[in-house]
Amino acid sequence: MDISRRGLFRQAAGGVALLSLQGTPKTAAGREQGPAGAVPPRMRDCFDFGWRFARGDKPGAQLPAFDDSSWQGVDLPHDWSIEGPVSEQEPSGGAGGYFPTGVGWYRKRFELPDSCRGRRGLIEFDGVYRNSDVWVNGAWLGRRPNGYVPFHYDLTPHLLFGRENVLAVRADNSRQPGCRWYSGSGIYRHTHLLATHPLHVGYRGTYVTFPRVTDDAAEVRIETRVENDGGLPAACTLATAVVDSGGAPVGSAESAMEIGAGRQYVFSQRIPVGNPSLWSVESPSLYRVRSTVLMSGEVADCCETPIGIREAVFDADRGFLLNGRRVKLQGVCLHHDAGCVGAAVPEAVWERRLKILRTMGCNAIRTSHNPYSAEFMDLCDRMGFVVMDEIFDEWRSGKGQLRGNGYSGDFDQWHERDVLSLVHRDRNRPSVVLWSAGNEVPDQSHPRGAETLRALQEIFHREDPTRPVTVGCDQIMSEPPANRVRPEFLALLDIVGYNYVDRWRDRKETYYGSDREAFPGRRVIGTESGSMGWARGDYGWLFPGESGGGFFGFSPGGMIDVEQLWKFVRLHDYVSGDFMWTGIDYLGEAFWPSRGASMGVIDSCGFPKDGFYFYQSQWTDTPVLHLFPHWNWKGREGRPIPVTCFTNCDTVELFLNGRSVGTKGYAFPRPGMEERWGNVPARARALRTTADLHLSWDVPYEPGTLKAVGTRGGEIVAAAEIATAGDPAAVRLEADRETIAADRRDVAHFTARIVDAAGTVVPTADNEVTFELEGAGKLIGVDSGDMRSHENYRSNRWRAFHGLCLAVVQSTADPGRIGLRAASPGLEPGSAFIAAK
Ligand code: GAL
Repeated sequence: MDISRRGLFRQAAGGVALLSLQGTPKTAAGREQGPAGAVPPRMRDCFDFGWRFARGDKPGAQLPAFDDSSWQGVDLPHDWSIEGPVSEQEPSGGAGGYFPTGVGWYRKRFELPDSCRGRRGLIEFDGVYRNSDVWVNGAWLGRRPNGYVPFHYDLTPHLLFGRENVLAVRADNSRQPGCRWYSGSGIYRHTHLLATHPLHVGYRGTYVTFPRVTDDAAEVRIETRVENDGGLPAACTLATAVVDSGGAPVGSAESAMEIGAGRQYVFSQRIPVGNPSLWSVESPSLYRVRSTVLMSGEVADCCETPIGIREAVFDADRGFLLNGRRVKLQGVCLHHDAGCVGAAVPEAVWERRLKILRTMGCNAIRTSHNPYSAEFMDLCDRMGFVVMDEIFDEWRSGKGQLRGNGYSGDFDQWHERDVLSLVHRDRNRPSVVLWSAGNEVPDQSHPRGAETLRALQEIFHREDPTRPVTVGCDQIMSEPPANRVRPEFLALLDIVGYNYVDRWRDRKETYYGSDREAFPGRRVIGTESGSMGWARGDYGWLFPGESGGGFFGFSPGGMIDVEQLWKFVRLHDYVSGDFMWTGIDYLGEAFWPSRGASMGVIDSCGFPKDGFYFYQSQWTDTPVLHLFPHWNWKGREGRPIPVTCFTNCDTVELFLNGRSVGTKGYAFPRPGMEERWGNVPARARALRTTADLHLSWDVPYEPGTLKAVGTRGGEIVAAAEIATAGDPAAVRLEADRETIAADRRDVAHFTARIVDAAGTVVPTADNEVTFELEGAGKLIGVDSGDMRSHENYRSNRWRAFHGLCLAVVQSTADPGRIGLRAASPGLEPGSAFIAAK
């Protein structure tokens, strides 16, 4: 897709957008279609800036003359639920994180120059939560119940040129609880305005597949739907080129066809590409398909589609294969919010989060349980994440918590259109390797469930024959057996998705084993499993009986379950991989006083928890050595503290204040002899003290320093230290980026650390930090990762949680220096500076 940034700054805060197109095509239905090359062939302008917003219902606000002068000026993406305040009485309940919900209205004025006359106009929404109605100039364009899917409307018959147009949107999220997690409310994703010549590539009209992919050669097949909305037949030529990331064409094809007035034609072209740079997790090479539509030799339309050349296969015996090579999917389930910014997530926030997930060794994302934003998916394409693209959490049968307010009521009427919206947006993406039609849908054990699945699967297969379909099934061995997923349901699935494969009876030990014996041809994947989440830095669970982690806190034995599952998944090729619940903490699905779920191994600020290092130790090769808990246990002197270490070193020796507490090592995987009998490498001779995937020591507490030293092959490769911290003395502030773009979108993350006089983070500190910003930026969120805090994400002060908190700063349109100061009573303040360019 071609994205024009030119329009950004023309959409002034005053609310007037100007889509600037030059030239006058003499084209409109019933008129002559003139020389097409005189104007820019296609515009796709960001439509995010200069909206007006009001909470509550506003009768008549769809009419152009409505007075919205008292409304708040906002830019999109915009999620008004996140502004809070949270309250236990909110109808959204624990499911929605106790955030406010209801109706919200948006209006935007924009002008199109006279020169645009004859163009087709289209407005694109990437997602509006929820039940949106859209009007332009008082004319109703349509309603979209599903808040997670992209949709668009044709504006052409209603547009005024050289005069003001008014777009109005009503979003109704008032039926609560309406979602099992935090949804956000409003136009919380990007919007674009498109203008095209009457002869143009249809909306999402390009579909690219790869009938043949080898290291030496690939064949790119492109289907392009060209539409002639003009009043006369058009002699159309479609020139298609595959261009590499540097813009150089690597192959092309040209086809011609006369397309009748008001008709469309689907071109099918094949372009061979020699020595392709294949898309992979390690090297996500992208190409672009450039489609140029010529009418009588003049360019009428031109657009681009990013692609990645790759072959993705799920195999019943070998698991997931990318370009013929086995890749174990080291996956995480996520939710679409990003903590303090709610559901309107700036791309740079996801970019940082995905980078953190990558350092953990994660290579796969499940978009649980709904379509994500287009820019999230773009990041996965660019960064080399494999995606299981999921669409529904409910089909026909609703889930109890939602009391009929969820998607089940819309399913019959809307599921086909919703699937089309998702598939047409995402089917060219190299990252997407698997569609998921649903998560834990009660229909799985319903007599009509297979029928519904068949209907859904047919839509996916029809629109994209290249990718398999799964469903996250949680009832595969449930009890009583009458509740189980029905065999005909499982038999239909292209890939059987297991949620919590080790949940039922002897599955606790056998995992996929018994099904493998019974159904050797079955292709399987762990669509959802437990992980090692609990509140960051909270170690109450170490001392049973003193305080508990709660349902969504740490569960005793949870760590062992995760370790055992990973051993199985890693050792059995036929299991394609696993998506653990969850990579990152999310809002909603909470129990008061929490407003979110702490099941992630990364908290809502993006700060890694201990469990992060477990995955890192198993999913990466770089030496990992992570010790926990902290070493501030005043009052527990002389009492044993269980010290745990996540590592991938052969052995680890632990020292307390310089004295060895002992050397340990674990036996997985178990390296054997090499080359010839009796040749046992140093690695295989390393000390083994446990079959768990962590090491532990009981260390009587005394203040000071715990130090761990890790070896591989007999050499020291890593060391880690935890020191007892003194009293809080200062706030240290650090930004994740030195420079951000002055584009009203880009963000920097500032981490505030409460440290003692020696600079050690104080792991028990909860001092309140006040952020003061100066220069060309705005503070858009603060957070500490503490889901039980009821502070306001939009304020400038927050209590640190276990020594840390976060401020998110967004650029304005002005370049310049941005300074942030973090102060706390009695502590030396910290500051950090970045530049907006
Ligand atoms: C799963 C479900 C997720 C989430 C999780 C909480 O069964 O698929 O959406 O609810 O449980 O543990």
